[in-house]
Amino acid sequence: MKRHFFVKSASLHGLFCALVWAVSVPAVADGRLMPAQVLSVYKQECAACHMAYPPGMLPAPSWRRIMTRLDRHYGTDASLEPAQVQQVSAWLVANAGTYQRVRVEPPEDRITRSAWFARKHRELDAAVWKRVSIKSAAQCGTCHTQAEQGNFDEHQVRIPR
Ligand code: HEC
Ligand code: HEC
Repeated sequence: MKRHFFVKSASLHGLFCALVWAVSVPAVADGRLMPAQVLSVYKQECAACHMAYPPGMLPAPSWRRIMTRLDRHYGTDASLEPAQVQQVSAWLVANAGTYQRVRVEPPEDRITRSAWFARKHRELDAAVWKRVSIKSAAQCGTCHTQAEQGNFDEHQVRIPR
């Protein structure tokens, strides 16, 4: 009896895992999700002015370039201690996007200038981006209410007026 129960629940567990796998893998392959373990220095230091972007959204060479020029970071100074730079850089590179659409280095090493970003947002009217309420495309959380949790699902989008 016990044994029978075990077998049954094990196969249910298997089915559950298969479902979770099927649902979550495309997003991971797309580089949208945060790795399960987020480096704490990254969360502390790289989310002060914008969200902590998922590393899979840029290819390794882009992250390397960003991390070697933090004193001239998109018009601001985002410098860190050399040891922190090394740590964050290594983590970003290790988790960088390798999925084919993310492999191309976008202009200015901007997520917001990559081809996949343009494609995912092509239905948004150009006028929307110019709204005062939408400070910048780089502030993902303005529209993606769950961006901090790495959720960019279109059902969690709310565009401010
Ligand atoms: C002092 C504020 C500040 C800190 C700290 C900071 N950034 Fe930025 N970052 C900016 C600004 C400003 C922009 C440009 C945003 C815009 O265009 O609206 C930017 C843009 C970016 C972009 C490009 C976003 C896009 O347009 O796709 C990336 C990637 C990025 N930062 C990564 C990092 C990383 C990695 C760190 C930590 C090492 C970091 N940032 C720390 C201010 C900061
Ligand atoms: C002005 C509002 C706005 C901003 C800011 C914005 N997005 Fe989006 N995003 C949207 C909308 C709307 C969609 C849904 C498009 C559709 O499928 O109809 C979307 C779709 C996406 C998708 C595809 C989701 C899916 O389920 O296919 C991704 C990934 C994404 N955005 C990432 C980002 C990232 C990363 C940033 C910041 C660097 C960002 N977005 C900034 C409005 C925005």
